[in-house]
Amino acid sequence: MRNMLRLLTAASTLCLLPGFVTAQTAGAKPPKYETRTVHDPDGTGVFYLGREMAQVMGHEGADWLDRPEREAEEAPSLLIKALKLKPGNVVADIGAGSGYLSFKMAKSVLPTGKVYAEDIQQEMLDIVKKKAEDTGVQNVVPWLGTITETKLPDSSVDLIILVDVYHEFDHPFEMTQSMIKSLKVGGRLVFVEYRKEDPSVPIKLVHKMTEAQVKREMAIFPLKWVETSRILPRQHIIVFQKLATAPR
Ligand SMILES: C[S@@+](CC[C@H](N)C(=O)[O-])C[C@H]1O[C@@H](n2cnc3c(N)ncnc32)[C@H](O)[C@@H]1O
Repeated sequence: MRNMLRLLTAASTLCLLPGFVTAQTAGAKPPKYETRTVHDPDGTGVFYLGREMAQVMGHEGADWLDRPEREAEEAPSLLIKALKLKPGNVVADIGAGSGYLSFKMAKSVLPTGKVYAEDIQQEMLDIVKKKAEDTGVQNVVPWLGTITETKLPDSSVDLIILVDVYHEFDHPFEMTQSMIKSLKVGGRLVFVEYRKEDPSVPIKLVHKMTEAQVKREMAIFPLKWVETSRILPRQHIIVFQKLATAPR
């Protein structure tokens, strides 16, 4: 799988040579992806709007995502509360990994709502499926996406959440376009990223993002920034809302 991810990364770099425009990027001008030889060893060497993208975390790290001390370190239950999910909401947990957050959110949207646990690694989705079978939870839907597309139905999702994920995208422009396509107008796009502004957050630099950088990367999309919350010990919660039309 790791080899496949490397191949995918290499392929994505190739596809993003200057001037390469897919049907998906039509309508908004994609900023260029730039490869640099001098870069952070934990990064991919590919930069987007001044930020180096991180390497994708392999499914071998799933146990770390489910570590018991995560509640004490990151307070995910506080995050779930802050989202104010409602019964019937359709949520997409993009880059869901082992579904740690998906299962925590699933209860809040019952009885009719659901959570798509979306990821590009089938091995992660197999873990999600097993958890759903073992616990009897029926409203978490394992969902396979690609490095450029969520494959979710258009205008169908109330809230998209990315917990420690966006900085790993090797096609952040295309993924953001795809996520916005699947959001309903007025739906929320929520970034939960380790605070790069805070040197005491014990996470490698390429796996952190500043609030300013997230806003910079979202500025070209039909989104309105709503709020940034710092209630979590290590991450900020940065919330945008989908607008009906692109900003001028
Ligand atoms: C650090 S893990 C975080 C998992 C989960 N959000 C959590 O906090 O427990 C990052 C996940 O993002 C996924 N990922 C990376 N690029 C992706 C993409 N373009 N689309 C969907 N998932 C992606 C990886 O496969 C990995 O499972």
